[in-house]
Amino acid sequence: MKYEQLIDLCKRRGFFYPTAELYGGLAGFYDYGPIGVEILNNIKKEWWKSLVHDNTNIEGINGSIITNSKVWDASGHVSEFSDYLVKCCKGHEFKADQVIEEIAKKKTEGLGVKELQKIVDKIMCPKCKSKFGKISKFNLMFSTGLGPENKETVYLRPETAQLIYINFKNVLNTTRQRVPFGIAQIGKAFRNEISPRNALFRMREFLQMEMQYFVDPKEASKTLDRWKKERLNWYINLGINKAHLRLREHKNKELAHYAKKAIDVEYKFEFGWKEIEGIHNRGTYDLSQHEKLSKKDLKYFDEEKNKKYIPAIIETSAGLDRAFLVFLADAYAEEKVKGEKRVVLRIHPKLAAYKVAVFPLVRKDGLDKKAKKIFDTLNNNFNTLYDERGSIGRRYRRQDEIGTPYCITIDYDTKKDNTVTVRDRDSMKQKRVKIDEILDYISKNL
Ligand code: GAP
Repeated sequence: MKYEQLIDLCKRRGFFYPTAELYGGLAGFYDYGPIGVEILNNIKKEWWKSLVHDNTNIEGINGSIITNSKVWDASGHVSEFSDYLVKCCKGHEFKADQVIEEIAKKKTEGLGVKELQKIVDKIMCPKCKSKFGKISKFNLMFSTGLGPENKETVYLRPETAQLIYINFKNVLNTTRQRVPFGIAQIGKAFRNEISPRNALFRMREFLQMEMQYFVDPKEASKTLDRWKKERLNWYINLGINKAHLRLREHKNKELAHYAKKAIDVEYKFEFGWKEIEGIHNRGTYDLSQHEKLSKKDLKYFDEEKNKKYIPAIIETSAGLDRAFLVFLADAYAEEKVKGEKRVVLRIHPKLAAYKVAVFPLVRKDGLDKKAKKIFDTLNNNFNTLYDERGSIGRRYRRQDEIGTPYCITIDYDTKKDNTVTVRDRDSMKQKRVKIDEILDYISKNL
């Protein structure tokens, strides 16, 4: 199975590791390794650029993870943010919709608790084959105690979005922005998922990249259409095969408590079409709620239209870890080269951990010195890797696996004619390029 092999590669080559493996791990928590964190940072950079830097009317913020718990009362998370939990007679716990989809092979989108219970009553626990009991609601927020003796209950944020809403007026008053404008943020979110699974796909601590766009409510529908297209294109422009992406609109019954309309960007994983990003019309729900509970005026006075209103919010909410998985899953390929298996990660060069790797053929006769000089020049411009150990073939294979677009080999001919071999990851074609021209060559091709 390709997905399993990809996860195996990720562990083997240091993309990510289950957290605290030394102590048996902790379900739903992962640590990114040296290659993974580079790719993760590159995805963040591309997302930030496409929203904050490329749009003069989108600002960035970085909100706190723990905030006043009234925020979560106002947002509805304290009362509404729950999953349906079901336990079998022997105490095995499952997310009701997941166990139904897996065992009864039925779609659960939009089903209420009564309908779910009817199906659950007819299936058996996949772990021990005993019957299931009653479905209950389970709040997904992690809580902790604040101050001496942990007197005050506070929550680890379950989404980054609320930190943006509570800063709406701050950003408005401290920048030159006027509605319509957006606020973007990348950061951790925490959810006490009942069954974390598929490695980074469903975690208990994960990263979100969220952008909230504040508009006149009359413009909400048009704005949703705009962001739907822009967000889909972001994935396509970074190399994801169009055929592996689709947009799916939520049915009314499926809508989250805040949403007027919701569209998921879905990716075709080996384990099915799954949500990687949600694009939501949240209407005026969030600012109205915060206005009500804080008793502060969150209306906006539109000078051009000469009217005061609570802006509607169009949200684009992407999971960074899911995006990471998608970029890897779509790039992963296995092929036969001269009878041997080659694993290659055809990831977009902008996202690759290293843009180029530099190898001296041998560690002597001055080849290593020349190679280090070339490495220094390239590394000043883009993340470059230096490797002088093992056969050149093996070194190429290691770079193919982590998706390095170019490898440069310094050999005995380099001493004669000042040229090096540049090898392309995807075609495996090799070309001699003059040392003086190497920086230009790599820059142009990236
Ligand atoms: N602010 C809206 C919001 O949080 P969501 O659909 O619950 O909406 C948005 O989450 C995105 O966050 C999802 O599309 C997904 O990519 C990511 N996400 C949600 N729960 C996750 C989890 N347990 N593990 C990894 N990513 C998750």
